[in-house]
Amino acid sequence: MKVGVVGAGLVGATAAYALTLRGSCSDLVLVDKDEKRAQAEAQDIAHAAPVSHGTRVTSGGYAALSGCRVVVIAAGANQRPGESRLDLLGKNAAIFREVIPQVAEQTPEAVLLIATNPVDALTDLATRLAPGHAVLGSGTVLDSARFRHLIAGQAGVDATHVHGYVLGEHGDSEVLAWSTATVAGLPVEDFMRARGLEWTEEVRAEIDAGTRDAAAAIIEGKRATYYGIGAALARIAEAILGDRRSILTVSAPTDPYGVSLSVPRIVGARGVEDTLIPPLPPEEARALEASAEVLRQTGARPG
Ligand code: LAC
Repeated sequence: MKVGVVGAGLVGATAAYALTLRGSCSDLVLVDKDEKRAQAEAQDIAHAAPVSHGTRVTSGGYAALSGCRVVVIAAGANQRPGESRLDLLGKNAAIFREVIPQVAEQTPEAVLLIATNPVDALTDLATRLAPGHAVLGSGTVLDSARFRHLIAGQAGVDATHVHGYVLGEHGDSEVLAWSTATVAGLPVEDFMRARGLEWTEEVRAEIDAGTRDAAAAIIEGKRATYYGIGAALARIAEAILGDRRSILTVSAPTDPYGVSLSVPRIVGARGVEDTLIPPLPPEEARALEASAEVLRQTGARPG
């Protein structure tokens, strides 16, 4: 199976590296307006292939995307310290209006996987620019991973055995759905109390802040995030390539909210196979509606 990555910056190149190390696909092609950058990243990543899964890694122009099953769109600017993801909309929407039609023309069968921020608004825009393509965004898959990582740290267990979803905007209005969070099948609070572990409002607040503020803290320290999102993109691509029907909080147009946002969805060969809006307690339902309103207001902005 062939995967394309458009945008060979830190996020795109790291996603390509993650796909290579994980052996997610047989062929990988990187495309960037800076052809030298794309070629150098592809060559560097290709040197990992002989000691991992033998992925054929190349670079090229849009025509090189022909035959891709998934195309990761990571083209655009990322946040600078103090900048919100929504601040990036104008410049990245302009890039999308140039890039998406050219990708769509070369890849009639591909699922477009949007990573560029603000990912929800740009997933909506890509859906409009590539009618007939399956389009989804990385959404809050990374935020849900951060949420699970922090709960696992408090619970003292393997994070792959902690489940919980962040819903809504991949951004400041995101909703940590504590009502969905479980460890070993138990609600987090029940698990912690059963094991005699501290579980207070302060611990919850620490996890909440650690999830919401993760990107800003990392950007402050090293100017960008790319490992977490790169792995999340590889995981989403694998669900598509393998028709895994994985449950992931990817971003896509969501009724009744009228915008792309993240809720748990079944992800398979066709991208979003089904959407699973969980029953939420009133405070979480209100927060999700508020997040949707932020995105509706954003979508109303001239991008
Ligand atoms: C982050 C970027 C991907 O949350 O928005 O790290």
